Amino acid sequence: MNSNLKFDRHRRLRGTPAIRKMVRETFLRPSDFIYPIFVTEEGSNIKSEIKSMPNVYQYSLDRLDEELKEVVSLGIPSVIIFGIPKEKDAVGSGAYDENGIVQKAIRLAKKNYPDLVVIADTCMCEYTDHGHCGIIHDGDVDNDESLAYIAKTAVSQAEAGADIIAPSNMMDGFVAAIRQALDEAGFTQIPIMSYAVKFASAYFGPFRDAAESAPKFGNRKGYQMDPANRLEALREAESDLHEGADFIIVKPGLPYLDVMRDVRNQVNLPLVAYNVSGEYAMVKAAAMNGWIDEKAVVLETLIAMKRAGADLIITYHAKDAVVWLKEEE
Ligand code: PBG
Ligand code: ZN
Repeated sequence: MNSNLKFDRHRRLRGTPAIRKMVRETFLRPSDFIYPIFVTEEGSNIKSEIKSMPNVYQYSLDRLDEELKEVVSLGIPSVIIFGIPKEKDAVGSGAYDENGIVQKAIRLAKKNYPDLVVIADTCMCEYTDHGHCGIIHDGDVDNDESLAYIAKTAVSQAEAGADIIAPSNMMDGFVAAIRQALDEAGFTQIPIMSYAVKFASAYFGPFRDAAESAPKFGNRKGYQMDPANRLEALREAESDLHEGADFIIVKPGLPYLDVMRDVRNQVNLPLVAYNVSGEYAMVKAAAMNGWIDEKAVVLETLIAMKRAGADLIITYHAKDAVVWLKEEE
Protein backbone atom coordinates (compact mmCIF):
# COMPACT_ATOMS: atom_id res chain seq x y z
CA MET A 1 0.00 0.00 0.00
CA ASN A 2 1.16 3.49 -0.80
CA SER A 3 1.90 5.10 2.59
CA ASN A 4 0.95 8.53 1.24
CA LEU A 5 -2.60 7.39 0.55
CA LYS A 6 -4.96 9.78 2.34
CA PHE A 7 -8.54 8.84 3.17
CA ASP A 8 -11.07 9.00 5.97
CA ARG A 9 -11.45 6.08 8.39
CA HIS A 10 -15.22 5.81 8.82
CA ARG A 11 -14.89 2.30 10.17
CA ARG A 12 -13.39 3.61 13.43
CA LEU A 13 -16.92 4.47 14.51
CA ARG A 14 -18.29 1.05 13.58
CA GLY A 15 -15.88 -1.23 15.42
CA THR A 16 -18.03 -2.47 18.28
CA PRO A 17 -21.71 -2.50 19.25
CA ALA A 18 -20.95 0.00 22.02
CA ILE A 19 -19.29 2.50 19.69
CA ARG A 20 -22.00 2.07 17.09
CA LYS A 21 -24.57 2.84 19.75
CA MET A 22 -22.71 5.99 20.80
CA VAL A 23 -22.79 7.47 17.33
CA ARG A 24 -26.31 6.38 16.38
CA GLU A 25 -28.33 9.33 15.09
CA THR A 26 -31.88 7.99 15.02
CA PHE A 27 -33.91 5.88 17.43
CA LEU A 28 -37.11 3.90 17.58
CA ARG A 29 -39.13 3.87 20.78
CA PRO A 30 -42.49 2.31 21.64
CA SER A 31 -43.86 5.85 22.01
CA ASP A 32 -43.21 6.45 18.29
CA PHE A 33 -45.95 4.07 17.25
CA ILE A 34 -49.64 4.40 16.50
CA TYR A 35 -51.43 1.09 15.98
CA PRO A 36 -54.39 0.87 13.54
CA ILE A 37 -57.46 -1.07 14.70
CA PHE A 38 -60.47 -2.19 12.63
CA VAL A 39 -63.83 -2.53 14.35
CA THR A 40 -66.81 -4.12 12.64
CA GLU A 41 -70.43 -3.46 13.51
CA GLU A 42 -71.82 -6.66 12.01
CA GLY A 43 -72.16 -9.60 14.38
CA SER A 44 -70.52 -10.50 17.67
CA ASN A 45 -67.61 -12.59 18.92
CA ILE A 46 -65.68 -11.68 15.79
CA LYS A 47 -61.92 -11.72 15.40
CA SER A 48 -61.51 -12.11 11.70
CA GLU A 49 -58.11 -12.05 10.03
CA ILE A 50 -57.74 -9.81 7.00
CA LYS A 51 -56.63 -12.03 4.15
CA SER A 52 -54.03 -9.72 2.67
CA MET A 53 -52.78 -8.56 6.11
CA PRO A 54 -51.65 -11.57 8.17
CA ASN A 55 -52.08 -11.07 11.91
CA VAL A 56 -54.29 -7.99 11.48
CA TYR A 57 -57.94 -8.51 12.40
CA GLN A 58 -61.37 -7.00 12.27
CA TYR A 59 -62.90 -7.11 15.76
CA SER A 60 -66.49 -6.85 16.83
CA LEU A 61 -67.06 -4.43 19.68
CA ASP A 62 -67.44 -7.19 22.27
CA ARG A 63 -63.92 -8.43 21.52
CA LEU A 64 -62.21 -5.09 21.00
CA ASP A 65 -60.81 -5.09 24.51
CA GLU A 66 -58.54 -8.07 23.71
CA GLU A 67 -56.73 -5.95 21.16
CA LEU A 68 -56.67 -2.78 23.26
CA LYS A 69 -55.36 -4.64 26.28
CA GLU A 70 -52.49 -6.10 24.28
CA VAL A 71 -51.56 -2.73 22.76
CA VAL A 72 -51.56 -1.03 26.16
CA SER A 73 -49.61 -3.81 27.84
CA LEU A 74 -46.92 -3.56 25.15
CA GLY A 75 -46.46 0.13 25.94
CA ILE A 76 -47.85 1.47 22.66
CA PRO A 77 -49.38 4.83 23.60
CA SER A 78 -51.85 5.33 20.79
CA VAL A 79 -54.29 3.66 18.41
CA ILE A 80 -56.12 4.88 15.31
CA ILE A 81 -59.57 3.40 14.90
CA PHE A 82 -61.36 2.50 11.65
CA GLY A 83 -65.00 1.44 11.60
CA ILE A 84 -66.78 -0.95 9.28
CA PRO A 85 -70.51 -0.18 9.50
CA LYS A 86 -73.30 -2.70 9.03
CA GLU A 87 -75.05 -0.47 6.52
CA LYS A 88 -73.77 2.03 3.98
CA ASP A 89 -75.66 4.79 2.15
CA ALA A 90 -75.04 7.62 -0.31
CA VAL A 91 -74.16 10.17 2.37
CA GLY A 92 -72.28 7.91 4.77
CA SER A 93 -74.72 8.40 7.66
CA GLY A 94 -72.90 5.84 9.77
CA ALA A 95 -69.84 8.07 9.92
CA TYR A 96 -71.53 10.73 12.08
CA ASP A 97 -74.11 8.61 13.92
CA GLU A 98 -73.61 9.08 17.66
CA ASN A 99 -74.18 5.34 18.00
CA GLY A 100 -72.05 4.49 14.99
CA ILE A 101 -69.42 1.79 15.25
CA VAL A 102 -66.45 4.13 15.58
CA GLN A 103 -68.20 6.27 18.18
CA LYS A 104 -68.94 3.14 20.21
CA ALA A 105 -65.40 1.86 19.83
CA ILE A 106 -63.95 5.20 20.94
CA ARG A 107 -66.19 5.29 24.02
CA LEU A 108 -65.19 1.76 24.97
CA ALA A 109 -61.48 2.42 24.45
CA LYS A 110 -61.52 5.60 26.54
CA LYS A 111 -63.60 3.98 29.28
CA ASN A 112 -61.29 1.00 29.62
CA TYR A 113 -58.01 2.84 28.99
CA PRO A 114 -58.32 6.54 29.82
CA ASP A 115 -54.61 7.13 29.17
CA LEU A 116 -54.56 5.53 25.73
CA VAL A 117 -54.45 8.22 23.04
CA VAL A 118 -57.37 7.36 20.80
CA ILE A 119 -57.20 8.78 17.29
CA ALA A 120 -60.26 8.74 15.06
CA ASP A 121 -59.75 8.30 11.33
CA THR A 122 -62.23 10.76 9.89
CA CYS A 123 -63.43 9.80 6.43
CA MET A 124 -66.58 8.76 4.59
CA CYS A 125 -65.39 5.91 2.34
CA GLU A 126 -66.14 3.10 4.80
CA TYR A 127 -69.66 4.49 5.22
CA THR A 128 -70.72 5.43 1.68
CA ASP A 129 -72.33 2.85 -0.60
CA HIS A 130 -70.24 4.16 -3.53
CA GLY A 131 -67.02 3.89 -1.51
CA HIS A 132 -65.78 7.43 -2.18
CA CYS A 133 -64.43 9.68 0.55
CA GLY A 134 -67.10 12.37 0.15
CA ILE A 135 -70.52 13.20 -1.25
CA ILE A 136 -71.13 12.51 -4.94
CA HIS A 137 -72.68 15.09 -7.28
CA ASP A 138 -72.86 14.59 -11.05
CA GLY A 139 -70.54 11.62 -10.86
CA ASP A 140 -67.82 13.43 -8.94
CA VAL A 141 -66.97 13.99 -5.28
CA ASP A 142 -68.27 17.45 -4.37
CA ASN A 143 -65.59 19.20 -2.37
CA ASP A 144 -67.54 21.84 -0.49
CA GLU A 145 -70.57 19.72 0.24
CA SER A 146 -68.27 17.00 1.59
CA LEU A 147 -66.73 19.49 4.02
CA ALA A 148 -69.95 19.77 5.99
CA TYR A 149 -70.09 15.98 6.35
CA ILE A 150 -66.47 15.51 7.33
CA ALA A 151 -66.86 18.30 9.91
CA LYS A 152 -69.90 16.76 11.54
CA THR A 153 -68.17 13.36 11.53
CA ALA A 154 -65.24 14.91 13.39
CA VAL A 155 -67.53 16.53 15.97
CA SER A 156 -69.37 13.24 16.60
CA GLN A 157 -66.02 11.50 17.14
CA ALA A 158 -64.90 14.21 19.54
CA GLU A 159 -68.20 13.88 21.41
CA ALA A 160 -67.53 10.15 21.73
CA GLY A 161 -64.21 11.00 23.40
CA ALA A 162 -61.61 10.87 20.61
CA ASP A 163 -58.36 12.52 21.70
CA ILE A 164 -57.25 13.40 18.17
CA ILE A 165 -59.17 13.83 14.89
CA ALA A 166 -57.38 12.48 11.81
CA PRO A 167 -59.21 13.53 8.64
CA SER A 168 -58.23 11.53 5.56
CA ASN A 169 -60.69 12.45 2.80
CA MET A 170 -58.38 14.91 1.00
CA MET A 171 -60.99 17.60 0.38
CA ASP A 172 -59.55 21.10 0.07
CA GLY A 173 -60.29 23.05 3.23
CA PHE A 174 -61.04 20.02 5.38
CA VAL A 175 -58.77 21.14 8.19
CA ALA A 176 -60.33 24.63 8.26
CA ALA A 177 -63.85 23.19 8.24
CA ILE A 178 -63.10 20.67 10.99
CA ARG A 179 -61.24 23.19 13.16
CA GLN A 180 -64.17 25.60 12.98
CA ALA A 181 -66.73 22.89 13.75
CA LEU A 182 -64.71 21.49 16.66
CA ASP A 183 -64.21 24.95 18.12
CA GLU A 184 -67.89 25.83 17.80
CA ALA A 185 -68.77 22.59 19.58
CA GLY A 186 -66.38 23.46 22.41
CA PHE A 187 -63.58 21.08 21.43
CA THR A 188 -60.92 23.74 21.18
CA GLN A 189 -58.31 21.47 22.74
CA ILE A 190 -58.73 18.50 20.39
CA PRO A 191 -55.82 18.39 17.91
CA ILE A 192 -56.16 17.65 14.20
CA MET A 193 -53.76 15.13 12.70
CA SER A 194 -54.22 15.83 9.01
CA TYR A 195 -53.58 13.33 6.26
CA ALA A 196 -52.21 16.37 4.46
CA VAL A 197 -50.00 14.58 1.97
CA LYS A 198 -51.85 11.52 0.79
CA PHE A 199 -51.07 10.01 -2.57
CA ALA A 200 -53.49 8.08 -4.80
CA SER A 201 -51.66 4.88 -4.06
CA ALA A 202 -51.99 1.24 -5.06
CA TYR A 203 -50.42 0.50 -1.68
CA PHE A 204 -53.82 1.05 -0.03
CA GLY A 205 -55.21 -2.13 -1.62
CA PRO A 206 -55.12 -4.42 1.43
CA PHE A 207 -56.61 -1.68 3.63
CA ARG A 208 -59.61 -1.51 1.33
CA ASP A 209 -60.14 -5.23 1.96
CA ALA A 210 -59.80 -4.61 5.68
CA ALA A 211 -62.12 -1.61 5.79
CA GLU A 212 -64.39 -2.74 2.93
CA SER A 213 -63.96 0.72 1.42
CA ALA A 214 -62.91 0.31 -2.22
CA PRO A 215 -64.64 2.81 -4.53
CA LYS A 216 -67.44 1.16 -6.56
CA PHE A 217 -66.69 3.31 -9.62
CA GLY A 218 -63.71 5.33 -10.78
CA ASN A 219 -60.77 5.94 -8.47
CA ARG A 220 -59.48 8.50 -5.99
CA LYS A 221 -57.14 10.37 -8.35
CA GLY A 222 -59.42 13.42 -8.41
CA TYR A 223 -58.72 14.09 -4.73
CA GLN A 224 -55.66 12.12 -3.64
CA MET A 225 -52.27 13.24 -4.96
CA ASP A 226 -50.39 12.16 -8.07
CA PRO A 227 -47.41 10.01 -6.99
CA ALA A 228 -45.24 11.97 -9.40
CA ASN A 229 -45.57 15.25 -7.49
CA ARG A 230 -43.18 16.56 -4.92
CA LEU A 231 -43.73 20.34 -4.89
CA GLU A 232 -47.47 19.82 -4.65
CA ALA A 233 -46.88 17.87 -1.43
CA LEU A 234 -45.34 21.00 0.06
CA ARG A 235 -48.33 23.07 -1.02
CA GLU A 236 -50.67 20.55 0.63
CA ALA A 237 -48.68 20.61 3.86
CA GLU A 238 -48.55 24.42 3.87
CA SER A 239 -52.32 24.75 3.42
CA ASP A 240 -53.03 22.41 6.28
CA LEU A 241 -50.53 24.20 8.50
CA HIS A 242 -52.29 27.51 7.83
CA GLU A 243 -55.73 25.98 8.29
CA GLY A 244 -54.72 24.89 11.78
CA ALA A 245 -53.47 21.30 11.56
CA ASP A 246 -51.53 20.13 14.63
CA PHE A 247 -49.84 17.14 12.99
CA ILE A 248 -49.09 16.37 9.33
CA ILE A 249 -49.26 12.85 7.90
CA VAL A 250 -47.36 11.71 4.83
CA LYS A 251 -48.86 8.57 3.32
CA PRO A 252 -47.74 6.02 2.15
CA GLY A 253 -44.41 5.90 3.94
CA LEU A 254 -41.63 3.93 2.30
CA PRO A 255 -42.18 4.97 -1.35
CA TYR A 256 -42.34 8.65 -0.27
CA LEU A 257 -39.38 9.16 2.05
CA ASP A 258 -38.10 12.01 -0.13
CA VAL A 259 -41.41 13.78 0.37
CA MET A 260 -41.21 13.10 4.10
CA ARG A 261 -37.84 14.83 4.25
CA ASP A 262 -39.08 17.77 2.16
CA VAL A 263 -42.07 18.27 4.42
CA ARG A 264 -39.89 17.94 7.52
CA ASN A 265 -37.64 20.69 6.26
CA GLN A 266 -40.48 23.05 5.44
CA VAL A 267 -43.17 22.56 8.10
CA ASN A 268 -42.43 22.70 11.81
CA LEU A 269 -45.24 20.47 13.00
CA PRO A 270 -45.01 16.94 14.36
CA LEU A 271 -44.71 14.73 11.31
CA VAL A 272 -46.33 11.32 11.00
CA ALA A 273 -45.45 8.56 8.54
CA TYR A 274 -48.21 6.15 7.59
CA ASN A 275 -46.56 2.80 6.86
CA VAL A 276 -49.59 1.57 4.92
CA SER A 277 -51.29 -1.76 4.36
CA GLY A 278 -49.58 -2.61 1.07
CA GLU A 279 -46.15 -1.99 2.57
CA TYR A 280 -47.12 -4.34 5.41
CA ALA A 281 -48.54 -6.98 3.07
CA MET A 282 -45.39 -7.11 0.95
CA VAL A 283 -43.12 -7.58 3.95
CA LYS A 284 -45.40 -10.22 5.43
CA ALA A 285 -45.64 -12.14 2.16
CA ALA A 286 -41.89 -12.21 1.67
CA ALA A 287 -41.31 -13.13 5.31
CA MET A 288 -43.81 -16.00 5.17
CA ASN A 289 -41.97 -17.34 2.14
CA GLY A 290 -38.71 -17.21 4.05
CA TRP A 291 -37.32 -14.71 1.55
CA ILE A 292 -36.46 -11.98 4.01
CA ASP A 293 -35.66 -11.65 7.71
CA GLU A 294 -38.90 -10.03 8.88
CA LYS A 295 -37.60 -8.51 12.10
CA ALA A 296 -34.55 -6.96 10.46
CA VAL A 297 -36.51 -5.65 7.47
CA VAL A 298 -39.25 -4.14 9.63
CA LEU A 299 -36.87 -2.39 12.02
CA GLU A 300 -34.79 -1.08 9.11
CA THR A 301 -37.93 0.23 7.38
CA LEU A 302 -39.20 1.96 10.51
CA ILE A 303 -35.86 3.58 11.34
CA ALA A 304 -35.70 4.82 7.74
CA MET A 305 -38.97 6.68 8.27
CA LYS A 306 -37.62 8.34 11.40
CA ARG A 307 -34.37 9.22 9.60
CA ALA A 308 -36.44 10.79 6.80
CA GLY A 309 -37.96 13.06 9.43
CA ALA A 310 -41.02 11.33 10.84
CA ASP A 311 -41.67 11.83 14.55
CA LEU A 312 -44.39 9.19 14.71
CA ILE A 313 -45.28 6.13 12.64
CA ILE A 314 -48.71 4.64 12.08
CA THR A 315 -47.87 1.00 11.45
CA TYR A 316 -49.44 -2.47 11.46
CA HIS A 317 -46.01 -3.71 12.62
CA ALA A 318 -46.21 -1.76 15.90
CA LYS A 319 -46.90 -4.71 18.21
CA ASP A 320 -44.09 -6.80 16.73
CA ALA A 321 -41.75 -3.84 16.60
CA VAL A 322 -41.96 -3.05 20.31
CA VAL A 323 -41.22 -6.67 21.18
CA TRP A 324 -38.25 -6.74 18.78
CA LEU A 325 -36.93 -3.44 20.13
CA LYS A 326 -36.89 -4.93 23.63
CA GLU A 327 -34.91 -7.91 22.34
CA GLU A 328 -32.40 -5.52 20.79
CA GLU A 329 -31.76 -3.60 24.02
C1 PBG B 1 -59.58 6.25 4.24
C2 PBG B 1 -58.21 5.69 4.47
C3 PBG B 1 -57.44 4.87 3.64
C4 PBG B 1 -56.30 4.55 4.38
C5 PBG B 1 -56.38 5.20 5.59
N1 PBG B 1 -57.57 5.92 5.63
C6 PBG B 1 -57.72 4.29 2.31
C7 PBG B 1 -57.93 5.09 1.12
O1 PBG B 1 -57.80 6.32 1.12
O2 PBG B 1 -58.25 4.47 0.12
C8 PBG B 1 -55.20 3.64 3.88
C9 PBG B 1 -54.40 2.99 4.96
C10 PBG B 1 -53.60 1.81 4.53
O3 PBG B 1 -53.50 1.44 3.34
O4 PBG B 1 -53.01 1.20 5.43
N2 PBG B 1 -59.63 7.31 3.37
ZN1 ZN C 1 -61.69 7.77 2.56
